Amino acid sequence: MTSESPAEILLIRPMHNAVMEALARDFRLHRLDTAPDPEALLAEVGPRIRGLAVGAQTRVDGALMDRLPRLEIVANFGVGYDTVDARAAAQRGIVVTNTPDVLTDEVADLAVGLLLATLRRIPQADRYLRAGHWPKAPFPLSPSLRGRRVGILGLGRIGRAIAQRLEGFGVAIAYHGRRPQGDAPYAYHPTLIGLAEASDVLIVVAPGGADTAKLIGAEVLDALGPEGVLVNVARGSLVDEAALAAALAAGTIQAAGLDVFADEPHVPEALAVLDNTVLLPHVGSASHHTRAEMARLVVENLVSWFAGRGPLTPVAE
Ligand code: DGY
Repeated sequence: MTSESPAEILLIRPMHNAVMEALARDFRLHRLDTAPDPEALLAEVGPRIRGLAVGAQTRVDGALMDRLPRLEIVANFGVGYDTVDARAAAQRGIVVTNTPDVLTDEVADLAVGLLLATLRRIPQADRYLRAGHWPKAPFPLSPSLRGRRVGILGLGRIGRAIAQRLEGFGVAIAYHGRRPQGDAPYAYHPTLIGLAEASDVLIVVAPGGADTAKLIGAEVLDALGPEGVLVNVARGSLVDEAALAAALAAGTIQAAGLDVFADEPHVPEALAVLDNTVLLPHVGSASHHTRAEMARLVVENLVSWFAGRGPLTPVAE
């Protein structure tokens, strides 16, 4: 940030209050989300914008970057940055930052909670009680988690934190990823199909984006089998949602717990009408503490960059 003129930053959608307050204090902030005519504002300020702050539902592609010829940095609120075209950014010399580490524990906790909720049918039991059924008939029994085989797709920071938590549940843990991790005390499967065949529960925690689109399709769901439970806390794009809805409706897998969807905030009706799904509105990192930490990191990346100290948490492209 130069002492004469603070850098001009663009906000496309509303973000965590702490981000918006800090950006308004430290920079010259322009907000498309509150502009009466966003297109006119973009045309007016676009040539001066040097930083973008974005969240998971804001797509930042080459076409947008080309409307911001002075853009230097895109600060993403979240560890997943599949909505930002990082390759297009790199080609234009634009830095992209994300918010790793600060949300690892929260997302891992949510993944375990979602797994338990899905397998033990906790939301369904709640609905059953509230509908007054309990006095008339017992709630149907559920499977156990204990003794199950849990496969993790993506043994990164969050995947490992999930595995560590699950060790206490008496399950066998295995994983698939681009390569085996020598220090991981879990069985490695070189193929996703192999992992699905060897798992009762498949937890998806790999990055989104073109390389992983619809990795969980009919074939993987078939391999998971009729006792199988799918849990996705990563990105909806990894799952073929039509194939998943068909498998759940036909009972070729048992249940799914989803915190993420391919086209958020749209939730496919075919998943929402099923009784064997537990659906959450992308709340993996949604605690006061963690969202505040993510906000802090978004702002600190921008402050550090414009102070000439470089980005704190740049993504690799
Ligand atoms: C992330 O950080 O990628 C989480 O999904 C929260 O948005």
